[in-house]
Amino acid sequence: MKGEIEVNGAKNSALKILSALVLSKEKCRITNFPFIEDTRRMLEILEDLGVRIFIDEKNKTVEADPSSISKTELNETLVKKLRSSMVISGPILSRFGKLRMPYPGGCVIGKRPIDMFLDGYQKFGAEIAWDEQGFTLTAKEGKLTGAHIFFPKVTVTGTETMMMTAVLAEGKTVLENAAMEPEIVELANYLMRCGAKIKGAGTSTIEIEGVDEISGGEFYVIPDRIETGTFVMMGLVTGSEIKITNCIPKHLGAVLPILEKSGAKLEVGEDYIITKESKLVANSVTTHEYPGFATDLQSPYTLLMTQAEGLSIIHETIFEGRLFFTDQLNTMGANIIMCDPHRVVVSGPTKLYGKRLTSPDLRAGITMILAGMIAEGKTVIDNIYQIDRGYEHIEKRLQALGADIKRVKEK
Ligand code: EPZ
Repeated sequence: MKGEIEVNGAKNSALKILSALVLSKEKCRITNFPFIEDTRRMLEILEDLGVRIFIDEKNKTVEADPSSISKTELNETLVKKLRSSMVISGPILSRFGKLRMPYPGGCVIGKRPIDMFLDGYQKFGAEIAWDEQGFTLTAKEGKLTGAHIFFPKVTVTGTETMMMTAVLAEGKTVLENAAMEPEIVELANYLMRCGAKIKGAGTSTIEIEGVDEISGGEFYVIPDRIETGTFVMMGLVTGSEIKITNCIPKHLGAVLPILEKSGAKLEVGEDYIITKESKLVANSVTTHEYPGFATDLQSPYTLLMTQAEGLSIIHETIFEGRLFFTDQLNTMGANIIMCDPHRVVVSGPTKLYGKRLTSPDLRAGITMILAGMIAEGKTVIDNIYQIDRGYEHIEKRLQALGADIKRVKEK
């Protein structure tokens, strides 16, 4: 492959501003917005609630007017398609004092519980009523009060949701063992521009002083660090010189030093990365919360290790269901042994042959595309809705780099 590929706005940032904007009665204007399946589902959820949405895809802009929200019950069909819709439950509860939520759906990676959300809401003084379809949250006296939440596990959306919920809760909230992702810092900066009082976002302790209301504002979606890392590994695994532009290399945390330890030759600029032909050597990795090696980059890295000289262990510490895609790489000729649901041993290099594959989640899905690029013969991938959830117009962008890829059926 050869040429340049531009990174889009971050899915996992765009999804959260779409939840945070319901905290205010005023308009929110979002630029550099990624139009992918997950963000389109979230826009549908907002419209279902009564938020007026204005979309300008050409200019990657969304404008939302949350002044006319007419209900506090989330649509079951939509929530089932998008697990991260759980995030909007906090802002709705915080602004309106009540929320009805069907059980969330989405990714199959692990059982994806929501216990830390529910425990958090109870600490804010909300009552939970269960029924077979889902649950209803009610704030005592219609208003939440500040909470002290010590997360038993680091949770990205849990941190974001409790931070947003605290913005309108009465008094002080302290979040400990909080996640530190760059998207959390961006969200906190936006909320502070709108009048929220937040300290410590990006560290493991965040303090929020509740306010009565916040204004609307403008939010620029930062480049997607997971798209960036995925395209870097695409360049490396295909032995190509490609330039990844409009990215923020420092948001990759431990990923770049780990790739360099794997023999990767990279030119890293302020807002670009160039991959060069590299002699890849096996290098074990353990996924870790930010700024450690991102779990969302574990699957492309595992593929990379099938092309590296030697034995490597991939230890996926965050999710229990994110290594099962390796059996599909083995059908292509890879030599990956699963030790337990969290660990595989990869022996490389191995030649891969094209196969028919099914994408179990979006990150394994994109990895199958990369595997198809280096395999001999044709690879066909089913269930590409999973890939479209996180990568906009993926086949067009890869064709522009010389990949022989086409979409044979719409969904
Ligand atoms: C976010 O998911 C991202 N999604 C994920 O990206 C990412 O893989 C993950 O963070 C880890 O970085 C969005 O931001 C929309 P967690 P999240 O809560 O917040 C357990 C992608 O590919 N847990 O940090 O849902 C959970 O099961 C997606 O873009 C509980 O036990 O992940 C996991 O083992 C996939 N109880 C661990 O915590 C809870 O209440 C960390 O999950 C919540 C989570």
